Amino acid sequence: MTAYPAIRLRRSRASSWSRALHRETLLTPADLIWPLFVTEGTGVEEPVASLPGVSRWSVDLIAARAKEAVALGIPCLALFPNTQSDRRSEDGAEALNPDNLMCRAIRAIKDSCGDDIGVLTDVALDPYTSHGQDGLIDDAGYVLNDATVDVLVGQSLNQAAAGADVIAPSDMMDGRIGAIRDALEDAGHVNVQIMAYAAKYASAFYGPFRDAVGSRGLLKGDKKTYQMDPANAEEALREVELDLAEGADSVMVKPGLPYLDIVRRVKEAFEVPVFAYQVSGEYAMIEHAAAAGAGDRDALVLETLLAFKRAGCSGVLTYHAAHAARLLGA
Ligand code: PBG
Repeated sequence: MTAYPAIRLRRSRASSWSRALHRETLLTPADLIWPLFVTEGTGVEEPVASLPGVSRWSVDLIAARAKEAVALGIPCLALFPNTQSDRRSEDGAEALNPDNLMCRAIRAIKDSCGDDIGVLTDVALDPYTSHGQDGLIDDAGYVLNDATVDVLVGQSLNQAAAGADVIAPSDMMDGRIGAIRDALEDAGHVNVQIMAYAAKYASAFYGPFRDAVGSRGLLKGDKKTYQMDPANAEEALREVELDLAEGADSVMVKPGLPYLDIVRRVKEAFEVPVFAYQVSGEYAMIEHAAAAGAGDRDALVLETLLAFKRAGCSGVLTYHAAHAARLLGA
Protein backbone atom coordinates (compact mmCIF):
# COMPACT_ATOMS: atom_id res chain seq x y z
CA MET A 1 0.00 0.00 0.00
CA THR A 2 1.36 3.37 -0.97
CA ALA A 3 1.21 5.94 1.78
CA TYR A 4 2.94 8.98 3.14
CA PRO A 5 5.55 10.12 2.31
CA ALA A 6 5.12 8.74 -1.23
CA ILE A 7 1.68 10.25 -1.22
CA ARG A 8 1.53 13.90 -0.30
CA LEU A 9 -1.77 15.51 -1.30
CA ARG A 10 -0.23 18.92 -0.67
CA ARG A 11 2.09 18.45 -3.69
CA SER A 12 -0.64 19.39 -6.14
CA ARG A 13 -1.54 22.45 -4.04
CA ALA A 14 1.95 23.89 -3.90
CA SER A 15 1.63 26.36 -6.77
CA SER A 16 -1.09 28.33 -8.44
CA TRP A 17 -0.62 26.69 -11.88
CA SER A 18 -1.02 23.28 -10.29
CA ARG A 19 -4.09 24.28 -8.31
CA ALA A 20 -5.60 25.54 -11.54
CA LEU A 21 -4.79 22.26 -13.27
CA HIS A 22 -6.36 20.15 -10.54
CA ARG A 23 -9.46 22.25 -9.98
CA GLU A 24 -12.53 20.00 -10.21
CA THR A 25 -15.25 22.63 -10.41
CA LEU A 26 -15.52 25.69 -12.62
CA LEU A 27 -17.65 28.75 -11.94
CA THR A 28 -18.30 31.05 -14.92
CA PRO A 29 -20.72 33.91 -15.64
CA ALA A 30 -22.69 31.39 -17.73
CA ASP A 31 -23.70 29.67 -14.48
CA LEU A 32 -25.56 32.71 -13.19
CA ILE A 33 -29.18 33.84 -13.36
CA TRP A 34 -29.68 37.44 -12.25
CA PRO A 35 -32.95 38.28 -10.43
CA LEU A 36 -34.18 41.82 -11.09
CA PHE A 37 -37.03 43.74 -9.46
CA VAL A 38 -39.24 45.94 -11.61
CA THR A 39 -41.31 48.91 -10.47
CA GLU A 40 -43.65 51.54 -11.97
CA GLY A 41 -42.58 54.96 -13.21
CA THR A 42 -39.88 56.24 -15.52
CA GLY A 43 -36.24 56.77 -14.75
CA VAL A 44 -36.71 55.10 -11.37
CA GLU A 45 -33.97 53.29 -9.51
CA GLU A 46 -35.26 52.50 -6.03
CA PRO A 47 -32.82 50.86 -3.59
CA VAL A 48 -34.26 48.03 -1.49
CA ALA A 49 -33.25 48.85 2.08
CA SER A 50 -33.03 45.28 3.31
CA LEU A 51 -31.05 44.17 0.23
CA PRO A 52 -28.01 46.47 0.23
CA GLY A 53 -26.84 47.05 -3.36
CA VAL A 54 -30.08 45.79 -4.96
CA SER A 55 -32.60 48.16 -6.57
CA ARG A 56 -35.98 48.09 -8.19
CA TRP A 57 -35.88 49.43 -11.75
CA SER A 58 -38.58 51.03 -13.86
CA VAL A 59 -39.33 49.37 -17.19
CA ASP A 60 -37.48 52.02 -19.21
CA LEU A 61 -34.27 51.24 -17.32
CA ILE A 62 -34.57 47.46 -17.34
CA ALA A 63 -33.21 46.93 -20.87
CA ALA A 64 -29.96 48.59 -19.82
CA ARG A 65 -29.62 46.01 -17.04
CA ALA A 66 -30.23 43.27 -19.59
CA LYS A 67 -27.55 44.68 -21.89
CA GLU A 68 -25.17 44.83 -18.94
CA ALA A 69 -25.90 41.16 -18.25
CA VAL A 70 -25.27 40.22 -21.88
CA ALA A 71 -21.95 42.07 -21.83
CA LEU A 72 -20.99 40.20 -18.65
CA GLY A 73 -21.84 36.80 -20.14
CA ILE A 74 -24.85 36.19 -17.88
CA PRO A 75 -27.25 34.00 -19.87
CA CYS A 76 -30.54 34.62 -18.09
CA LEU A 77 -32.50 37.16 -16.02
CA ALA A 78 -35.27 36.42 -13.51
CA LEU A 79 -37.96 39.09 -13.18
CA PHE A 80 -40.07 40.05 -10.16
CA PRO A 81 -42.61 42.89 -10.12
CA ASN A 82 -43.30 45.32 -7.31
CA THR A 83 -46.93 45.77 -8.29
CA GLN A 84 -48.42 49.12 -7.24
CA SER A 85 -50.79 48.68 -4.32
CA ASP A 86 -53.98 49.79 -6.10
CA ARG A 87 -53.46 46.94 -8.58
CA ARG A 88 -53.28 44.28 -5.88
CA SER A 89 -56.49 42.46 -5.09
CA GLU A 90 -57.91 39.50 -3.22
CA ASP A 91 -57.74 37.37 -6.39
CA GLY A 92 -54.48 38.72 -7.84
CA ALA A 93 -56.17 39.40 -11.19
CA GLU A 94 -53.40 41.80 -12.23
CA ALA A 95 -51.28 38.68 -12.89
CA LEU A 96 -53.49 38.11 -15.96
CA ASN A 97 -53.22 41.64 -17.33
CA PRO A 98 -51.23 41.53 -20.61
CA ASP A 99 -49.92 45.02 -19.83
CA ASN A 100 -48.87 44.38 -16.26
CA LEU A 101 -45.43 45.42 -15.05
CA MET A 102 -43.97 41.97 -15.64
CA CYS A 103 -45.18 41.75 -19.26
CA ARG A 104 -43.94 45.26 -20.06
CA ALA A 105 -40.54 44.39 -18.62
CA ILE A 106 -40.36 41.13 -20.60
CA ARG A 107 -41.17 42.99 -23.83
CA ALA A 108 -38.65 45.75 -23.10
CA ILE A 109 -35.87 43.19 -22.62
CA LYS A 110 -36.83 41.01 -25.57
CA ASP A 111 -37.19 44.07 -27.84
CA SER A 112 -33.68 45.24 -27.00
CA CYS A 113 -31.76 41.98 -26.54
CA GLY A 114 -33.75 39.31 -28.41
CA ASP A 115 -32.24 35.88 -27.91
CA ASP A 116 -28.99 37.25 -26.52
CA ILE A 117 -30.45 36.65 -23.07
CA GLY A 118 -33.11 34.42 -21.57
CA VAL A 119 -35.96 35.83 -19.51
CA LEU A 120 -37.23 33.68 -16.67
CA THR A 121 -40.48 34.75 -15.07
CA ASP A 122 -41.80 33.88 -11.64
CA VAL A 123 -45.26 32.35 -11.58
CA ALA A 124 -47.09 32.83 -8.27
CA LEU A 125 -49.64 35.35 -7.11
CA ASP A 126 -47.89 36.96 -4.15
CA PRO A 127 -46.81 40.15 -5.97
CA TYR A 128 -50.45 40.66 -7.04
CA THR A 129 -52.58 39.69 -4.03
CA SER A 130 -53.72 42.08 -1.32
CA HIS A 131 -53.01 39.37 1.29
CA GLY A 132 -49.51 38.47 0.10
CA GLN A 133 -50.17 34.74 -0.28
CA ASP A 134 -49.08 32.94 -3.45
CA GLY A 135 -52.59 31.75 -4.29
CA LEU A 136 -56.32 32.28 -3.82
CA ILE A 137 -57.56 31.98 -0.25
CA ASP A 138 -60.83 30.81 1.28
CA ASP A 139 -62.65 32.54 4.13
CA ALA A 140 -60.36 30.92 6.68
CA GLY A 141 -57.29 32.15 4.81
CA TYR A 142 -56.34 28.67 3.53
CA VAL A 143 -54.59 28.78 0.15
CA LEU A 144 -56.73 26.82 -2.32
CA ASN A 145 -54.83 24.49 -4.61
CA ASP A 146 -56.91 23.76 -7.70
CA ALA A 147 -58.48 27.20 -8.05
CA THR A 148 -55.01 28.72 -7.77
CA VAL A 149 -53.63 26.40 -10.46
CA ASP A 150 -56.25 27.71 -12.88
CA VAL A 151 -55.00 31.25 -12.34
CA LEU A 152 -51.33 30.21 -12.57
CA VAL A 153 -52.05 28.67 -15.97
CA GLY A 154 -53.45 32.00 -17.13
CA GLN A 155 -50.50 33.86 -15.64
CA SER A 156 -48.05 31.56 -17.44
CA LEU A 157 -49.78 31.99 -20.80
CA ASN A 158 -49.77 35.75 -20.24
CA GLN A 159 -46.02 35.77 -19.59
CA ALA A 160 -45.28 33.42 -22.49
CA ALA A 161 -47.30 35.63 -24.85
CA ALA A 162 -45.20 38.61 -23.73
CA GLY A 163 -42.05 36.68 -24.66
CA ALA A 164 -40.90 34.86 -21.51
CA ASP A 165 -38.42 32.09 -22.27
CA VAL A 166 -38.62 30.18 -18.99
CA ILE A 167 -41.72 29.91 -16.84
CA ALA A 168 -40.73 29.37 -13.22
CA PRO A 169 -43.63 28.46 -10.94
CA SER A 170 -42.63 29.30 -7.35
CA ASP A 171 -45.97 28.69 -5.66
CA MET A 172 -45.70 24.99 -4.64
CA MET A 173 -49.30 24.13 -5.60
CA ASP A 174 -49.81 20.46 -6.50
CA GLY A 175 -50.30 19.68 -10.18
CA ARG A 176 -49.40 23.08 -11.55
CA ILE A 177 -46.47 21.96 -13.72
CA GLY A 178 -48.62 19.54 -15.73
CA ALA A 179 -51.42 22.05 -16.11
CA ILE A 180 -49.04 24.80 -17.25
CA ARG A 181 -47.19 22.48 -19.65
CA ASP A 182 -50.43 21.35 -21.30
CA ALA A 183 -51.58 24.92 -21.70
CA LEU A 184 -48.25 26.05 -23.17
CA GLU A 185 -48.33 23.16 -25.68
CA ASP A 186 -51.92 23.92 -26.66
CA ALA A 187 -51.05 27.58 -27.19
CA GLY A 188 -48.08 26.69 -29.41
CA HIS A 189 -45.41 27.73 -26.90
CA VAL A 190 -43.65 24.40 -27.37
CA ASN A 191 -40.16 25.81 -26.74
CA VAL A 192 -41.04 27.83 -23.67
CA GLN A 193 -39.28 26.02 -20.84
CA ILE A 194 -40.49 25.32 -17.33
CA MET A 195 -38.05 25.58 -14.44
CA ALA A 196 -40.00 24.26 -11.48
CA TYR A 197 -39.36 25.60 -8.04
CA ALA A 198 -39.69 21.93 -7.13
CA ALA A 199 -38.26 21.83 -3.62
CA LYS A 200 -39.09 25.18 -2.14
CA TYR A 201 -39.02 25.42 1.62
CA ALA A 202 -41.04 27.59 4.01
CA SER A 203 -37.95 29.55 4.92
CA ALA A 204 -36.98 32.46 7.14
CA PHE A 205 -34.55 33.57 4.42
CA TYR A 206 -37.15 35.27 2.17
CA GLY A 207 -37.70 38.43 4.23
CA PRO A 208 -35.82 40.98 2.09
CA PHE A 209 -37.43 39.62 -1.09
CA ARG A 210 -40.87 40.25 0.36
CA ASP A 211 -39.80 43.84 1.00
CA ALA A 212 -38.61 44.12 -2.59
CA VAL A 213 -41.93 42.99 -4.08
CA GLY A 214 -43.93 44.82 -1.41
CA SER A 215 -45.67 41.79 0.08
CA ARG A 216 -44.03 41.62 3.50
CA GLY A 217 -46.37 44.05 5.23
CA LEU A 218 -49.44 42.45 3.59
CA LEU A 219 -48.68 38.86 4.51
CA LYS A 220 -50.38 37.57 7.61
CA GLY A 221 -49.12 34.28 8.96
CA ASP A 222 -46.81 32.08 6.93
CA LYS A 223 -46.69 29.82 3.86
CA LYS A 224 -46.29 26.51 5.65
CA THR A 225 -49.42 24.90 4.18
CA TYR A 226 -47.81 24.90 0.73
CA GLN A 227 -44.05 25.46 0.99
CA MET A 228 -42.03 22.55 2.34
CA ASP A 229 -41.02 21.80 5.91
CA PRO A 230 -37.25 22.49 6.27
CA ALA A 231 -37.00 19.16 8.11
CA ASN A 232 -37.80 17.12 5.00
CA ALA A 233 -35.54 15.67 2.32
CA GLU A 234 -37.34 12.56 1.06
CA GLU A 235 -40.35 14.71 0.37
CA ALA A 236 -38.15 16.94 -1.81
CA LEU A 237 -37.33 13.95 -3.98
CA ARG A 238 -41.03 13.22 -4.40
CA GLU A 239 -41.70 16.85 -5.34
CA VAL A 240 -38.93 16.74 -7.94
CA GLU A 241 -40.09 13.40 -9.33
CA LEU A 242 -43.62 14.68 -9.83
CA ASP A 243 -42.56 17.97 -11.41
CA LEU A 244 -40.32 16.09 -13.86
CA ALA A 245 -43.10 13.64 -14.67
CA GLU A 246 -45.43 16.57 -15.32
CA GLY A 247 -43.01 18.12 -17.81
CA ALA A 248 -40.54 20.36 -15.98
CA ASP A 249 -37.39 20.93 -18.06
CA SER A 250 -35.32 21.70 -14.99
CA VAL A 251 -35.85 21.85 -11.26
CA MET A 252 -34.85 24.28 -8.58
CA VAL A 253 -34.01 23.95 -4.90
CA LYS A 254 -34.65 26.98 -2.72
CA PRO A 255 -33.14 28.44 -0.54
CA GLY A 256 -29.59 27.63 -1.54
CA LEU A 257 -26.69 27.11 0.83
CA PRO A 258 -28.70 25.67 3.77
CA TYR A 259 -30.13 23.11 1.33
CA LEU A 260 -27.07 21.91 -0.59
CA ASP A 261 -27.75 18.39 0.68
CA ILE A 262 -31.04 18.52 -1.21
CA VAL A 263 -29.30 19.72 -4.37
CA ARG A 264 -26.89 16.80 -4.16
CA ARG A 265 -29.60 14.22 -3.52
CA VAL A 266 -31.76 15.52 -6.36
CA LYS A 267 -28.81 15.52 -8.76
CA GLU A 268 -27.82 11.96 -7.83
CA ALA A 269 -31.35 10.61 -7.94
CA PHE A 270 -32.52 12.15 -11.23
CA GLU A 271 -29.51 13.35 -13.26
CA VAL A 272 -31.41 16.34 -14.61
CA PRO A 273 -30.50 20.04 -14.65
CA VAL A 274 -30.75 21.30 -11.08
CA PHE A 275 -30.67 24.98 -10.16
CA ALA A 276 -30.51 26.61 -6.76
CA TYR A 277 -31.75 30.00 -5.63
CA GLN A 278 -29.36 31.81 -3.32
CA VAL A 279 -32.19 33.81 -1.82
CA SER A 280 -32.47 37.32 -0.49
CA GLY A 281 -31.69 36.47 3.14
CA GLU A 282 -28.55 34.61 2.07
CA TYR A 283 -27.44 37.60 -0.01
CA ALA A 284 -28.12 39.96 2.89
CA MET A 285 -26.14 37.77 5.29
CA ILE A 286 -23.07 38.00 3.06
CA GLU A 287 -23.45 41.76 2.63
CA HIS A 288 -23.88 42.36 6.36
CA ALA A 289 -21.05 40.00 7.28
CA ALA A 290 -18.72 41.78 4.87
CA ALA A 291 -19.84 45.23 6.09
CA ALA A 292 -19.14 44.12 9.66
CA GLY A 293 -15.65 43.01 8.72
CA ALA A 294 -16.38 39.32 9.29
CA GLY A 295 -15.13 38.31 5.85
CA ASP A 296 -14.02 39.51 2.45
CA ARG A 297 -17.05 40.21 0.33
CA ASP A 298 -15.67 39.12 -3.04
CA ALA A 299 -14.20 35.93 -1.61
CA LEU A 300 -17.46 35.09 0.19
CA VAL A 301 -19.44 35.64 -2.99
CA LEU A 302 -17.24 33.45 -5.16
CA GLU A 303 -16.85 30.68 -2.58
CA THR A 304 -20.58 30.37 -1.97
CA LEU A 305 -21.37 30.34 -5.68
CA LEU A 306 -18.69 27.73 -6.36
CA ALA A 307 -20.22 25.56 -3.62
CA PHE A 308 -23.45 25.35 -5.63
CA LYS A 309 -21.54 24.08 -8.66
CA ARG A 310 -19.64 21.56 -6.57
CA ALA A 311 -22.89 20.29 -5.08
CA GLY A 312 -24.22 19.57 -8.58
CA CYS A 313 -26.01 22.70 -9.74
CA SER A 314 -26.18 23.65 -13.40
CA GLY A 315 -26.60 27.25 -12.33
CA VAL A 316 -27.56 29.61 -9.52
CA LEU A 317 -30.04 32.43 -9.16
CA THR A 318 -28.17 35.08 -7.22
CA TYR A 319 -28.46 38.81 -6.55
CA HIS A 320 -24.66 38.80 -6.74
CA ALA A 321 -24.76 37.72 -10.40
CA ALA A 322 -23.47 40.93 -11.99
CA HIS A 323 -20.85 41.46 -9.31
CA ALA A 324 -19.69 37.84 -9.49
CA ALA A 325 -19.57 37.93 -13.29
CA ARG A 326 -17.41 41.04 -13.09
CA LEU A 327 -15.05 39.30 -10.65
CA LEU A 328 -14.91 36.21 -12.84
CA GLY A 329 -14.29 38.20 -15.99
CA ALA A 330 -11.53 40.30 -14.48
C1 PBG B 1 -42.77 34.02 -4.11
C2 PBG B 1 -41.30 34.00 -4.16
C3 PBG B 1 -40.50 34.17 -3.05
C4 PBG B 1 -39.19 34.18 -3.50
C5 PBG B 1 -39.21 33.97 -4.89
N1 PBG B 1 -40.55 33.85 -5.28
C6 PBG B 1 -40.83 34.45 -1.63
C7 PBG B 1 -41.83 33.63 -0.93
O1 PBG B 1 -42.06 32.47 -1.27
O2 PBG B 1 -42.40 34.17 0.01
C8 PBG B 1 -38.02 34.37 -2.60
C9 PBG B 1 -36.76 34.83 -3.21
C10 PBG B 1 -35.80 35.44 -2.27
O3 PBG B 1 -35.96 35.45 -1.03
O4 PBG B 1 -34.80 35.94 -2.79
N2 PBG B 1 -43.52 33.24 -4.86
